[in-house]
Amino acid sequence: MVLKDKVILVTGGSSGIGYSIAEMAKNKEAKVIIAARNREKLDKAAKELSAFPIVCDVGNEKHVTECYNTIMKEFGRIDALINNAGFGYFSMLDDLDKTKFEEVFNTNVVGAALMAKYAARIFKKQNYGNIVNISSTAGTKGYAGGTAYSATKFALKAMSECWRAELREHNVRVIHVNPSEVQTDFFVNSGRGKREFNPTKLIGEDIAHSVISALEMNDRGFITELTVFATNPK
Ligand SMILES: NC(=O)c1ccc[n+]([C@@H]2O[C@H](COP(=O)([O-])OP(=O)(O)OC[C@H]3O[C@@H](n4cnc5c(N)ncnc54)[C@H](OP(=O)(O)O)[C@@H]3O)[C@@H](O)[C@H]2O)c1
Repeated sequence: MVLKDKVILVTGGSSGIGYSIAEMAKNKEAKVIIAARNREKLDKAAKELSAFPIVCDVGNEKHVTECYNTIMKEFGRIDALINNAGFGYFSMLDDLDKTKFEEVFNTNVVGAALMAKYAARIFKKQNYGNIVNISSTAGTKGYAGGTAYSATKFALKAMSECWRAELREHNVRVIHVNPSEVQTDFFVNSGRGKREFNPTKLIGEDIAHSVISALEMNDRGFITELTVFATNPK
């Protein structure tokens, strides 16, 4: 896909990885829409990026349908959904909080599915589209304290495979991306405190580069899954 003038929706585009993807897509002259819950943060990011902001909680179906109604009214089509909105909840099994478990599932799994559901309806009509699911290496291997978060990302992997099976014949490419640790607000937002910046570890731009490169591949083909590690983290 040539990104110039394409309509690209980035959920969680107000921060971290999503912000970097939105920025790189914008640099390729795409029409970029960013969606997130916190209006103030979203409007600030939209101004910096010259992107179109839509306040949307991906786990709320009414917000999701309104989001696509706005996109179709403003842009008339959509070429790619970057399903990036997400957060972490980490706890040892014997301390697992049911409410927090359900909340993280509602965004990372149900939210991703709702965003894809309404995108798929449009993509089928257009006979064209792209879905990029931002998963995690936590979705490839479990670890201590990862029950809830890792489960959401394994679930996303399952959904990527299902959507691919349903949508390929409609010329929809479903690309699954597994970043390892990326230095964003993710850690603070998941209650694990601020980490010192480490120049040997990944930054949002590294994931954005992987996503944009995958999207730029000729529509004849697509990369099913990408896993991104820091080369030699210290
Ligand atoms: N950082 C890492 O190490 C890492 C590694 C692998 C994968 N990932 C994945 O990468 C994605 C982005 O994370 P990040 O590191 O960029 O974290 P981040 O800086 O905390 O950004 C998360 C973004 O998602 C939005 N968001 C959260 N819940 C939402 C909801 N229910 N509806 C709409 N937007 C929502 C946030 O905005 P609001 O709070 O305003 O809604 C924010 O824009 C996540 O799916 C995460 O699991 C991160």
